[in-house]
Amino acid sequence: MTELVRLTDVIKVYQGGITGALNGVSLSIEQGEFTAVMGPSGSGKSTLLNLIAGLDRPTSGDVAVGGTDLGALGEAGLARFRRDHVGFVFQFFHLLPNLTALENVLIPAQLKGRESADTRGRKLLETLGIPEVAERYPAKLSGGQQQRVAIARALINNPTLLLADEPTGALDTHSGDQVMDLLAQLHREGQTILLVTHDAKLATRHAARVISVTDGKIVDDARLETTERSASDVVRVRSEETSR
Ligand SMILES: Nc1ncnc2c1ncn2[C@@H]1O[C@H](COP(=O)(O)OP(=O)(O)OP(=O)(O)O)[C@@H](O)[C@H]1O
Ligand SMILES: [Mg+2]
Repeated sequence: MTELVRLTDVIKVYQGGITGALNGVSLSIEQGEFTAVMGPSGSGKSTLLNLIAGLDRPTSGDVAVGGTDLGALGEAGLARFRRDHVGFVFQFFHLLPNLTALENVLIPAQLKGRESADTRGRKLLETLGIPEVAERYPAKLSGGQQQRVAIARALINNPTLLLADEPTGALDTHSGDQVMDLLAQLHREGQTILLVTHDAKLATRHAARVISVTDGKIVDDARLETTERSASDVVRVRSEETSR
């Protein structure tokens, strides 16, 4: 197993924040893992994802992805890191309304100046089950379709790491299930995924590992059996170290 993400003693205090959003998080994620992050509102889940994505920097501590210390990168280096290694899916899709679905998918590829991106974009939409929406604008799409477009956009550059922050939070149960099935399929194909969700059922049904965050600390880290996941299959690891 190859380690892909390593956080060491990460602390994040936002400007004006009285308490830290993250209060000493150390974490290792292997390549190919499907990890869910759970925890109450305000516990630091999005902060954790943003730091791993290189969208923000820790107050102290280290974040490394694929052996690269993100703290050693300047702003341009960080932007390049995000473009080349990170796909990010948000709760509210964040599609640009004046671009078609396909044009939205191609935004990161254009930044990278890739040829044949168009073909790959269409193929991704097909894989995600929505080839017919390519030329349509986001306002004409359902929430589930918009989220699948956003997932295609996150995948267009073959990211090392797919990060999803409550990707089903704005979707009805059926669309949410479809999105989760897609993530599970991507995981089976080898994609490393880090997913934030409030939904314990979704987390345990699809992810192989569930990390619980409370008050900016990891309070539990559980690996689940790959077959027939249920609460009773949970194998606890590292709880002793992390609940110090
Ligand atoms: N940009 C910011 N500036 C100041 N404080 C922030 C900022 N972003 C988050 N916080 C604070 O940091 C803490 C952790 O926030 P974070 O968004 O990571 O929580 P979360 O677990 O994702 O919550 P939710 O489930 O509601 O999305 C909260 O107290 C929040 O108010
Ligand atoms: Mg959040």
